[in-house]
Amino acid sequence: RLGRRAEEMSLKAYVVGGFVRDLLLGKENQDLDIVIEGDALAFIKSWETDGCKVAVHERYKTGTIVFPGDKKVDVATARREFYEYPVALPKVAGDSLKHDLYRRDFTVNSMAISINRTSWGTLIDYFGGRRDLQSRQLRVLHNLSFVEDPTRVLRGLRLKQRLGFEFEDNTFRLIKSAVKGGLLGLLSGTRVKNELKLIFMEEKVYPIVLEMVRLNIFEALFSGIKVDRNCIRIVRRLSFFLRRLRYDLPDIEEDVWLAFLAAVIFSSADWVQHATLDKLHLSKSNREIVEKALDDLGTAENAIGGKGMRSYEEIYLFLRDAPYVTALFWAAATQQWRVRRRILLYLTRLHRVNPILMGRDLVELGYPKGPLIGKILEELLLARLRGEVETREDEIKWVKS
Ligand code: CTP
Repeated sequence: RLGRRAEEMSLKAYVVGGFVRDLLLGKENQDLDIVIEGDALAFIKSWETDGCKVAVHERYKTGTIVFPGDKKVDVATARREFYEYPVALPKVAGDSLKHDLYRRDFTVNSMAISINRTSWGTLIDYFGGRRDLQSRQLRVLHNLSFVEDPTRVLRGLRLKQRLGFEFEDNTFRLIKSAVKGGLLGLLSGTRVKNELKLIFMEEKVYPIVLEMVRLNIFEALFSGIKVDRNCIRIVRRLSFFLRRLRYDLPDIEEDVWLAFLAAVIFSSADWVQHATLDKLHLSKSNREIVEKALDDLGTAENAIGGKGMRSYEEIYLFLRDAPYVTALFWAAATQQWRVRRRILLYLTRLHRVNPILMGRDLVELGYPKGPLIGKILEELLLARLRGEVETREDEIKWVKS
């Protein structure tokens, strides 16, 4: 439909970037990026009458079309940054597309596929992206790529791990010199945060962090930071827990990156930890999660550690006041296996414990609506943790007594 519409409007339209890369690799990718040669704004707005939601940035000539069913497509105008020259022969792709693709990070991301009806499916590959996909290499398009945008160093490390690729030699050399030359230190905190978040939400975080440590990336991003063996051990444990326990853990997808962030700053001096969090402009609640993780590890160890038995109730009552991600961090950071085991027990099982009876059951049993019901349910939950009730009948008996 997108291609047909482009055709009707005499525009050339292409799918570009990560989608094309993943398509050629046979991987799923839900992020459709379209580039239009011509007026992308008119193209985007034309969908408004088809029951789609659209949003445009007039200034950048980009925008988004959200189709019914929430399928989102980003649309951009091919950017020409060099002077334009007349196209002598009719081609599938005009020069503005070539210029647009040349501005991208790696050759494997610089391919396009035409979606116009007459040339539907034609792969446009000016810079050897397909060859590099085949030899599994990440290669920049030109030597100033990381100078233009130093976040590409972080994107590169993430992509390399995700795709199982290697950096082409010259690209790797450019990464090292970008790091040495202090380019990463010039990035705004918000951009660094966005890239770190993407890294820490990847499926395999540990190898990326290892490589970042080897390349001194953290030092280049945050002055004074010390990512030592302890930090790396915590990152490895976090990765392990997430992989092994993913389906048993509470839903923490959105926040999990904060545990990794806490892990990498764990061994740094207080002032470095604060300066790092300041730089990243975390939201108040995110910052609290990280600070509690770092500041209260000892408290947690005292509260639920030790050789003596700890009841489920005790473990539950202490940990329920901490965000799940904070507790997960403690489980990875503690040196005490008992503490680790107890936290994991909480995160995989205890946190889900609830009474079978609900508020309205208690009303039916004759209790007045109001705070008393909440109190009874709370006591019932603790009774369940103590193993005093099992069935619904047990609960009713327990309440009546
Ligand atoms: N891009 C770039 N430089 C950046 C960020 C993005 O050149 N600093 C280009 C890349 O060509 C990329 C495209 O913009 O393919 C779209 O960016 P994004 O959606 O972030 O990347 P994808 O490759 O689509 O997605 P991901 O890497 O998350 O799989």
